[in-house]
This record gives sequence, C-alpha cells and structure tokens, in this order.
Amino acid sequence: MDPYLLLKWVHILSSTVLFGFGAGTAYSFWSAHLTREPATIAKVGKMVVRADWIFTGSSGILQPVSGVMLASVAGYSLGESWLIVSYGLYALAFACWAPVVGLQIRATRLAAEAARSATPLPPAYFSAMRLWFWLGWPAFTALLAVYWLMVAKPQLW
Ligand code: HEM
Repeated sequence: MDPYLLLKWVHILSSTVLFGFGAGTAYSFWSAHLTREPATIAKVGKMVVRADWIFTGSSGILQPVSGVMLASVAGYSLGESWLIVSYGLYALAFACWAPVVGLQIRATRLAAEAARSATPLPPAYFSAMRLWFWLGWPAFTALLAVYWLMVAKPQLW
C-alpha cells in the first residue's frame, strides 16, 4: 500500500478516536454529574477515566507522530504556517486536557466517598467540576480549529 495513503488513513482515524472519545467521555461525565447522584457519578467517572487513558491518551500521542510523518512523506515543510499554528493549538488542547483527567479522577474519588458514606457531594467536588467544565471548552475549540487548518491548509503569513 502507498505509505502516504496508509499514514493519512492512520492520521484521520486517530483524529476521529481522539475527538470522538474526548467529546464522548466529556458528555458522559457531564450527564452523570447532572444526575447529582454520587453512585452514578462514581461509576461513570471510573469508566470515563479508563476510556480517556486508553483511547484519548493513545490517539493523542499517535496524532502528532503520524502528522509529522505525514508531512515528511507528503513533502510539506514542518515550518508551514498552518502547521505552526496547529502545533500551538494542539499544545493548548493538551495543556487543558491533562489537568481535566486529574480533575476527573479527583471528582470521581470524591463522589465514590460520598456514595460510600451516604453523604452529599462535598464542595470540593463542585469546584473540581467547575474547573473541569471550563478547561474542556478551550481544548474542544482548539481541536475544531486544528481540524479546519488541516483541511484548508491556509498560508497564514
Ligand atoms: C499536531 C501535529 C499535526 C501534524 C504535524 C499534522 C500534519 C498533517 C498533514 C501534513 C496533513 C496533510 C496531509 C495531506 O493532505 O497530504 C494532515 C491532514 C489531516 N490532519 Fe493533521 N496534523 C497534526 C494534528 C492533527 C490533529 C490534532 C487533527 C485533528 C484532531 C488532525 C486532523 C487531520 C485531518 C482530518 C487531515 C486530513 C485533511 C485532508 O485530507 O485534507 N491533524 N495533518
């Protein structure tokens, strides 16, 4: 098979897993949070954290690796303006996503403790979720912008 097509297939497939799991796990955890039921939040949180490590994490590594390989096979310079802006946006998305995983673990642990002791969700849980919510948006928006840059490949300067 043509190495270019193979790499592009991997790169696009990986972006689907990255974006799909990123948005999908966030939606699931937010839906669980809205129930305000500690046991539900703890259960869904555990699944979401696992899925984020396995799928979002691995595709998050594969994405820039396959991207750089793709650029060299396709004959693009790594200094193309649309690629440089993509690196920045991808770094921003990663910088927001990494603490989000930590916050998910914290919120899940607090919900599990509340479920075990049959007490309401503590204020620390709500502060973790507030930060989780607000860090998710820049990561999501940055990836949308990267998708556009990948598709349009504009010369920005
Ligand atoms: C951060 C490092 C990245 C690099 C170096 C990179 C590199 C590239 C290159 C060179 C192409 C052009 C292939 C071609 O059309 O010949 C491409 C296409 C593509 N990239 Fe990336 N990429 C990166 C990250 C991402 C991310 C984060 C996403 C989405 C989450 C993404 C999604 C896509 C898609 C969907 C295409 C296909 C566009 C098309 O066929 O017109 N890439 N990438």
